[in-house]
Amino acid sequence: MKIELSNTIKNIPENVFYPIFKLISEESSSGKPLLNAGIGVPDSDTPELLLKELEIAIRKPENMRYGAFDGKITLLNEISQWLKEKYNIDANPKDEIALVFGTKSGLSSIPSVLLNPNDTVLLPVPSYPDYIQGIALAQAKYEEIELKQENNYLVDYSDIPEKLVKDAKLIFLNYPSNPIGAVATKEFYKETVTWAKEHNIVVLQDHAYSDFYYKDGYSPAFMQTIGAKDVGIEFFSFSKNFSISGLRIGFAVGNKEIIRGLKEYNTIFHANIYGAIQDTVVTALKNHNLLTEHIKETYSKRIDKITSKLDELGYSYFKPDGGIFIWLKVKDGYDSQSFFELLLKKYRIVTMPGHVFGYGGENYIRLSLSLSDEQIDILIEKLESLNNDLNNR
Ligand SMILES: Cc1ncc(COP(=O)(O)O)c(C=O)c1O
Repeated sequence: MKIELSNTIKNIPENVFYPIFKLISEESSSGKPLLNAGIGVPDSDTPELLLKELEIAIRKPENMRYGAFDGKITLLNEISQWLKEKYNIDANPKDEIALVFGTKSGLSSIPSVLLNPNDTVLLPVPSYPDYIQGIALAQAKYEEIELKQENNYLVDYSDIPEKLVKDAKLIFLNYPSNPIGAVATKEFYKETVTWAKEHNIVVLQDHAYSDFYYKDGYSPAFMQTIGAKDVGIEFFSFSKNFSISGLRIGFAVGNKEIIRGLKEYNTIFHANIYGAIQDTVVTALKNHNLLTEHIKETYSKRIDKITSKLDELGYSYFKPDGGIFIWLKVKDGYDSQSFFELLLKKYRIVTMPGHVFGYGGENYIRLSLSLSDEQIDILIEKLESLNNDLNNR
């Protein structure tokens, strides 16, 4: 019997990372070691405090049974308190916060929660590629909005064609951004609320890298903005901030109607998030400052060390104010794929070619900052020899 998959599944674009991972795995099986500067999670170990909490929590009988669909009230209360203390956001734990099985799952669900087939989403690019699959699952379509360096990669609302603004139902934002490392300002978020209200467009802000912010203070949250709850929601992830990407947990906060829809959608596919994971992230939030205080200094030092070498070697790049990547312009005569392959095959450096992040990435690669001091030294040596080879051509 011939089994046919649904058109929905057939029409979901292939994960753009697959062909890249395939090339990397072919190269890695060839023997010579690779320096992995392509990685999208921080290199620090999971804090011992969280491992200990998880060990205790897996022994609790209640965590081996079905739990409340919406999550433990202890965790929802803790999130609400943390949002108030850190960001001065008022969020009712009952109906303004939804737990998700990693923000990837929440971000992919929102189009199905809010959109009908053929509805339009505005997708500022270059952006995290996984947004696209959720849009395809909802049988909606997206229009790319080019983010420009001259605007610090913030969306320029006045530059979006009128027809797109008229058609759009939803816009994705991501600050601090992957792959660029751009950060939002409070003024930008104010402007976003005004624009969204005027045009009736829901805003989804992805704050997965919330603790990776290298200016003074902390990365502004969209939900801090007056009126933000009227127009959208914001996702926070535990994955990067606490080095627990394998546990799969995050949350959304904001507009009640959207949160209600997201919770309903979650209950179709999942029961509760494993209780031991929920207990672990309660401990993470209670100790948030202690567990994340190293980030700013560690990553700022890495950025300074790498970018001062890049300056010396004549590269153009965007110096990130947030996130865990450097957005690096390729050398003349290359595009993102050919430069990525040159680095991979000849210099044994894994990066990500910019084209996988959408329009605007064709002449860039994404370099990860998830590298130890020793690895940065190796990276610098390799970039130097690449420069010498290109100069001697
Ligand atoms: C911008 C962005 N959003 C969301 C995610 C997904 O994070 P999570 O582990 O919470 O699913 C990632 C992961 O790389 C990301 O880069």
